[in-house]
Amino acid sequence: MNRFGFIIHPLEIDDFARKFSWAEKVPDSFIEKLTRVMPPVKASHITGVRSKTGKEIEGYFIGVTLTSKQMLTLPTDKVLKKIIKAGKKAQELGCQIIGLGAFTSVIGDKGITIARELDVPVTTGNSYTVATAIEGTKLAAAKMGHNLKEVMVTVIGATGSIGRAVSLILGQDLHNLQLVARNLEKLRNLREEIIQLNPGINLSCTTDIAAAVKISQVIISASGAVESLIMPSDLQPGAVVCDVARPRDVAGKVARERDDVLVIEGGIVEVPGPVNFNFNFGYPPKTSYACMAETMMLALEDRFEDYSLGPVLEIEKVKETMAMARKHGFKLAGLRSFERALSEDKIAEIRKRAEKKLIATC
Ligand SMILES: NC(=O)c1ccc[n+]([C@@H]2O[C@H](COP(=O)([O-])OP(=O)(O)OC[C@H]3O[C@@H](n4cnc5c(N)ncnc54)[C@H](OP(=O)(O)O)[C@@H]3O)[C@@H](O)[C@H]2O)c1
Repeated sequence: MNRFGFIIHPLEIDDFARKFSWAEKVPDSFIEKLTRVMPPVKASHITGVRSKTGKEIEGYFIGVTLTSKQMLTLPTDKVLKKIIKAGKKAQELGCQIIGLGAFTSVIGDKGITIARELDVPVTTGNSYTVATAIEGTKLAAAKMGHNLKEVMVTVIGATGSIGRAVSLILGQDLHNLQLVARNLEKLRNLREEIIQLNPGINLSCTTDIAAAVKISQVIISASGAVESLIMPSDLQPGAVVCDVARPRDVAGKVARERDDVLVIEGGIVEVPGPVNFNFNFGYPPKTSYACMAETMMLALEDRFEDYSLGPVLEIEKVKETMAMARKHGFKLAGLRSFERALSEDKIAEIRKRAEKKLIATC
């Protein structure tokens, strides 16, 4: 049976207690010291991933104990060493391809160094993440009554691996697009690239996140920031936000303060077969992140080759992952918001409240 590995890590210090219950009783400062020196751990054995074709695979979650903040603040070479060690553990367990979860794919050169140091191929899973983020955004926008060709669509983290591919694909169809990140020069270069391919597009770029959010009806957010970027006071009534980033770009208080906007989690996928992850990463049974799903699909396809790697994704691979998903029965899980499933009724209520607010402000 083909076998995949997927490297995970706690997004925040609280996530550590999902695996180690004793951590709830210990001060954060102690846990942070401990996570720096802990070796990688075999977090779980994944069983029952079964394709529509009947083929079944198994896998392992391997945990690097560093949090997102530690990954960004500790020296990159030390962080990469830890991730490579986790990859070697996956190799020892017989994994034939390794996926990089959350910040393990963001750090350094986005998997290239890690792949060079390992004997088995590596993927960040970002191609299928892009595909599902776009699919989820289109679905959510339609449910809120937005015609993507008429509204202002903004991509936050637009120059990143995920954001760049999302921007290039959306640029083929949309009339109004806004690109956001911190480095203006990179944004301008991407803007030029997209305008060359789609001369009629109204395409702006900015480093001012709040100003960009204020004029947007639809936002896809995929930044590499540790802190929240999208605040309740900046969102328009009826805005749709697809938050791909982990940790999230949308502030938690948006869920409490804005019942007239639709925030969905990007890249959440239903996995085919009687799958058991034997690990709680906060989603219902049978659902995973798209980056995990990409790793599984490559294992099902016997595609033991480096796939989504480095800062520039191939758009053809985004399309290829969609074809692989159809073949094996992976699909977008129902829309979710702040770790809860969103029903049709709930979305209709959000839309009604937004419409009321918009009428009141006219
Ligand atoms: N849901 C899923 O299945 C899934 C899968 C893979 C990855 N992810 C998540 O997706 C996110 C992006 O991943 P990636 O590989 O595309 O990362 P990346 O290549 O490092 O790109 C990050 C982007 O965010 C921008 N950025 C970073 N910090 C920012 C800040 N404080 N304010 C505004 N922009 C900022 C960067 O540009 P500047 O440096 O110029 O600002 C860049 O455009 C990460 O959170 C990752 O964990 C989710």
